[in-house]
Amino acid sequence: MIASSIRERILIVDDEANVRSILHAHLENGGTECVSSPNAFDALNKIEEQHFSLIISDVMMPGMSGMELLRLVKKQEPETAFIMITGLMDINTAIDSLRTGAFDFITKPFELPAIQRSVDRALERRRLLIENRYYQEELERKVRERTFELNEALHDVEESYKITLEALVAALDAREHETQAHSQRVREYTLALAEALNLNPDMLVHVGRGALLHDVGKIGVRDSILLKPGRLSQSEWVEMRRHPQIGYEILKSIDFLASAAEIVLCHQERWDGKGYPNALSGSEIPLGARIFAVVDTLDAMTSNRPYRRALSFEAAREEIRVCAGTQFDPRVADAFLNMPPESWMAIHDSVNRLHQEQGCLDVLCLNSNTCQ
Ligand SMILES: [Fe+2]
Repeated sequence: MIASSIRERILIVDDEANVRSILHAHLENGGTECVSSPNAFDALNKIEEQHFSLIISDVMMPGMSGMELLRLVKKQEPETAFIMITGLMDINTAIDSLRTGAFDFITKPFELPAIQRSVDRALERRRLLIENRYYQEELERKVRERTFELNEALHDVEESYKITLEALVAALDAREHETQAHSQRVREYTLALAEALNLNPDMLVHVGRGALLHDVGKIGVRDSILLKPGRLSQSEWVEMRRHPQIGYEILKSIDFLASAAEIVLCHQERWDGKGYPNALSGSEIPLGARIFAVVDTLDAMTSNRPYRRALSFEAAREEIRVCAGTQFDPRVADAFLNMPPESWMAIHDSVNRLHQEQGCLDVLCLNSNTCQ
């Protein structure tokens, strides 16, 4: 309902009967419904019973003053307009009443046209206040509605991201079994180490995706090489070492995976420049890839291989310590070594447990903050 459609009603409060009747008659002649009260208590009872757009009140009345009435009205119905009239021109009361929310302060004897002008302006101001409030409320309602729709849309996008990631991991696992658990472990290790290095939440999402998909390029490596039980020949290694570039090509044009693609491309680079495919060194290698390199070694050493059983977490820590500054970024290796072996073992065990229990893909959500 908009303000202009509200029927205006005025309450006149004055202990002088002749003032009440003059105002009442004049304002009703102007077409506004009026109600009169001889004192503030009676006025409060009437305010309880019906709604008033405007109250015109005397200041000096027996029992309760017009100022007290004004305070009570403004507390209960702040949008009700209020005009003060008084027989005494007291500047302090005038200032007080205006500060408390009265629209106008008129002294007796008053002229009826002056009262009418004040009433018209007070009612107009009240209408504007109410219209502004409606507008504000409507705006807030629309913002809430749009926020809800946006959240729904974001949720759909996140779902499709998750499905895309699951599909990519599953595609690789279909070629090289057992890679899912490895991908998920290194993802969780990478996130833990990235958090220890204070990477911001956006970066965490990208490095998590990069770690999860690091070997996706192996989809493009022939089975005879990818699944070969024995040692690879020199030429076979050349093909195998194309997998970071192939992974990068697969992911780079997928918008939400573009940053992860950089980590995939660089995940076999080494701090000392002896890695592949581009022999990058030091900080030329994206930080996410430098973090991944450390935890990939951890996972490789602590996993069973056809030619050896898994080594201990202590042994992996020692290897990472020894290779800090050559294979690994020393700052990243330090952050890794500062974390107790138990924390890595706990991640290892929880990923493996979930992998066995749920058959894998839900493990993408092990860390809900950096899911996708
Ligand atoms: Fe790899």
